[in-house]
Order: sequence, then C-alpha cells, then structure tokens
Amino acid sequence: TSVFQGRSLLAEKDFTRSELEYLIDFSIHLKDLKKRNIPHRYLEGKNIALLFEKTSTRTRAAFTTAAVDLGAHPEYLGANDIQLGKKETTEDTAKVLGSMFDGIEFRGFSQKMVEELAEFSGVPVWNGLTDEWHPTQMIADFMTIKENFGSLENITLVYVGDGRNNMANSLLVTGAILGVNVRICAPEALFPEQEVIDYANKFAAESGAELMITDNVDEGVKGANVLYTDVWVSMGEEDKFEERVNMLQPYQLNMDMINKTGNQDTDNLIVLHCLPAFHDTNTEYGKMVEEQFGVKEMEITDEVFRSKYGRQFEEAENRMHSIKAIMAATLGNLFIPRT
Ligand code: CP
Ligand code: NVA
Repeated sequence: TSVFQGRSLLAEKDFTRSELEYLIDFSIHLKDLKKRNIPHRYLEGKNIALLFEKTSTRTRAAFTTAAVDLGAHPEYLGANDIQLGKKETTEDTAKVLGSMFDGIEFRGFSQKMVEELAEFSGVPVWNGLTDEWHPTQMIADFMTIKENFGSLENITLVYVGDGRNNMANSLLVTGAILGVNVRICAPEALFPEQEVIDYANKFAAESGAELMITDNVDEGVKGANVLYTDVWVSMGEEDKFEERVNMLQPYQLNMDMINKTGNQDTDNLIVLHCLPAFHDTNTEYGKMVEEQFGVKEMEITDEVFRSKYGRQFEEAENRMHSIKAIMAATLGNLFIPRT
C-alpha cells in the first residue's frame, strides 16, 4: 500500500510537503493523460458519494467528471435529498454511506461534520469546502502556479480581501507547507484567526516560507507573483454584505493594485481567483448588490479579470485534474512509494 492509501483529505495541515508536492505533480501527469486521451481508470468499479450542503459549480462538476474518467460512479446527494443534518446524525449517515460507497466528498459548513464523516464511515473522505478549509482547491491552485512559473520556488502569493475565510486559511497554511511566501492583505478586523497563523508559522519555520499579515496594500502587494482574491461574502454569511462592501473596497483587485506589485509581465505576475467571482453585475446576485449598495464590481474588476494576468479559468479546469489525483491516490490501486 502507498502512503496515501485509505487516507482522507480533510485539511492541508495533515499532509507533508512531499505529499502535497506529489499530489500536485500527479495532477499535472493526469492532465497530460487526459489531453492525450490516454485512459486512467484507477477507480474502476468504485462508488463515490458527493454530499453538498452548500451550492457548487466547479467542485461538483470536477468530482463528477473526475470520477467518471477514473471509472467510478459518482452519486450526487444534495442537502435537500438526504436525511443528514435533519432527521439523522452525521455518525449514522456516515456508517450507512461507508457501507455502500468507497469514498465520500463533503461540502458544507462545519469542519467537525466532515471529520465525523471520516471517523465513522471508514472510507476516504474528501473535504470539498467547509467554513474553515478548502483543501482540494489548494492542489489545483498550486498546480496552476507551478504550471505557470515552472516551479514553486521563490514565489510570493498575495491574497487580498477577506482574510478570515476558508480560502485565506487554506492558502496561508498550504503555502507555508510548500515553501511559498504568502501574504494576507486585509483589514485588521478580517485578519486570520490566531490558530491558523500559528499553524502557518510552524510550517513556515520548516519550509523557509516568508509570511506576512498586513492591512497595508502598498507594502502587501509589492513584489507579488500571484495576486489572489476571493468573494467578500462567503456562502453562509450573506447578512454581512453591507459591512464587507464598506470594509473591503481598498482591497479590490484592480489595475492600480496590479501596478503596485511592480511586476508587469505574466512571466512574473498572474492573477488567480477560486471562483465564482463578482466582477460585474451581470448576474441575479450582481443586480441585487448594485441596486442595494450601488457597487458594480466587488473583489476584482472586470478589467483585471479579463486581462492577460487572469489565470482563473485554467485554475478552474485544474480542479478536475487535481481532484482526480486526490481520489486516485487515496482510493486507487496505485503504488506510490514512500519518500
Ligand atoms: N472554487 C469552487 O469551489 O467553486 P464552486 O463553489 O463552484 O465549487
Ligand atoms: N470563500 C468562498 C469560496 C467559494 C469557493 C465561500 O466559502 O463561499
């Protein structure tokens, strides 16, 4: 058995630098196989449950297509389709699903719930996003960075905006493990929680990553190779709209911020966003925000989104390749030697 066999991916901190690097490289390999139409059916005959308490486009689509390409059967179980959280405990649901499915993806609110699913199901559980972490996104993100720059060495990633959400947490900790310099540039009220900073500092001491948490945009974005942002209002926090719009305007990823990095070529600067992105008002949600708050663009301007720096759609595609790697490594019959 390999070092991955039977393991769950619940939070990045549970994986070593070489394990995360392996998953990134395996994702790049599987992407190449896919592009060349070479079969990679490592999960032939397996059944995968996809539990979604929150909505999703990329994560759901990526798990579904990845499972099918790997030869597995994915079954979508939405919040309103099953008893979990309403009529049944997580423990009971986990035991039942674990007896029928070979692996379980869970997206929802509580990190505790995804951990309980892993504890009681007895099968690998993959965290498709909780309020605290978004680990499958991390493999895609650092894969995209590696594809663009050729390596993860001497890269400075600056995350601007809501510094206290799942994406900020995951980027800070994962970058620290991988030796990528990470800066969180956010208003002080939205700095990451101390527990997350403590994890990150511990890993950075081992990897040599340089970390910075600052509310100063000029200082924060100077020298950035990756400018990263996420929505100002995450799923489940919709009541915080007004507060966030007022607080986060100075942290909008716009051309002025691009100029402040001092980098101009895509050789040394790219823009990432996990998506969905609020860059224009051409959605139902966007119209609501424009009417209520008079704001046309939120965390990223349409100009930057559509600029040569924007790599968010490559990043989105990479969700599929990386989720394949995660599922195949933990559930497939692969031999991955210990390093
Ligand atoms: N990035 C991401 O997780 O997208 P979805 O919410 O659409 O799955
Ligand atoms: N922070 C966002 C990420 C979406 C992929 C949210 O939790 O809604």
